[in-house]
Amino acid sequence: MKERLKITETCLRDGHQSLIATRLKTDEILPIVETMDKVGYNALEVWGGATFDACIRFLNENPWERLREIKKRAKNTKLQMLLRGQNLLGYRHYADDVVEKFVEKSIKNGIDIIRIFDALNDTRNIEVAAKATKKYGGHCQLAICYTISPVHTVEYYKNLAIELEKMGADSIVIKDMAGILLPEKGYELVTELKKVIKVPLELHTHATSGIASMLYLRAVDAGVDIIDTAISTFAGGTSQPATEALVRTLKGTKRDTGLDLTLLKEIAEYFKPIRKKYADEKILNMQAYYVEPSILEYQLPGGMLSNLVSQLATQNAVNRYEEVLKEIPKVREDLGYPPLVTPLSQMVGTQAVLNVLMGERYKMIPTEIKDYVRGLYGKPPVPISDEIKRKIIGDEEVFTGRPADLIAPEYESLKKEIGSLAKTDEDVLIYAMFPKIAKPYLENRDKPKIEKEIRNINIVF
Ligand code: CO
Repeated sequence: MKERLKITETCLRDGHQSLIATRLKTDEILPIVETMDKVGYNALEVWGGATFDACIRFLNENPWERLREIKKRAKNTKLQMLLRGQNLLGYRHYADDVVEKFVEKSIKNGIDIIRIFDALNDTRNIEVAAKATKKYGGHCQLAICYTISPVHTVEYYKNLAIELEKMGADSIVIKDMAGILLPEKGYELVTELKKVIKVPLELHTHATSGIASMLYLRAVDAGVDIIDTAISTFAGGTSQPATEALVRTLKGTKRDTGLDLTLLKEIAEYFKPIRKKYADEKILNMQAYYVEPSILEYQLPGGMLSNLVSQLATQNAVNRYEEVLKEIPKVREDLGYPPLVTPLSQMVGTQAVLNVLMGERYKMIPTEIKDYVRGLYGKPPVPISDEIKRKIIGDEEVFTGRPADLIAPEYESLKKEIGSLAKTDEDVLIYAMFPKIAKPYLENRDKPKIEKEIRNINIVF
């Protein structure tokens, strides 16, 4: 507890993803990168599934080009990305050859640190991405997805951290994607993890429930090495706590961050008119700033609660909300306590709604839930009981291997599929991640006027 606290700045990824639906344009980012580069951050988080997706879906921008342009201007600061293990940035498991190619190209185009996670904390779903990161000279940061259940004990997280370090993690992050890690629990977790790992430990949370800055301060006391914050303009609410607040709080203490507050102010001021523009366009919704203590009561991510209400509204069944809230923990228990992060939060929520509305549990079961029980997403934290298994997939065999072992190499066939529309490997990877929207993007990218049309394609994601 003598060392400087390091700060990873999230505004160019999680910050604008959480508050303005990932809409920052490259033109809005680039003018401030050189200033950000002087601050002395541990890293700038700049890339992830939603940033990549929004570039081609809404902005008619090449996400690879954005990365290269940021890299040119951030000469001293490491660039970081978030990668969903074997899902990469897409919504399915990819074959190992695509995973390796994607990691290789991410590093070659400017990423230094790859934060890799799997929704189930199934390490088999992150091992190929981790190996590739090391092979191509990247910093391999492996994530622990934090959730609450009878099996997710401090002991569980300690064993997981030890395993991640053995897999070659250069650092480990506690990823509290729902913002439900309580300050004292966080203190205990950081203290205990620091006892069993040698690599630096980072903490990531969201300010949704109002406890995040208390958590951060306790984690700092416990000796956490790095903390994720967002510049004030894109902080708070569903985003991270503000960078300046933590920097000032720790100034002159043993954990002084050493970051320059004058530069931070300049960055915050730069983004203000941009934030105002998105507020005027109603892309920044006030609801993102509401403090939501109920996520602590139900231990559900904030986004899941609002999804439930709209799901029930379409069925004229908003009055069943309380019943569904009570059903969610039961479904989660039946399914072996998966962490409620994409895509499992949506899957568990939908099953709970069906169980309540159909008047009988598991009368109707979405394919995704069946595939999950079949083992196609990986290993549930707790084995699913035979009774539930029978209810969901009958006598079908459960696959217990690594899910990606079922997928044959596919890079060459993807390349063939997209054909001459792809001019580079990077283009092929755009197609691999988001096949439906990649085609119109690749066809029209040289025509600037198409932006409006792409914006109007209304696809739910
Ligand atoms: Co986050």
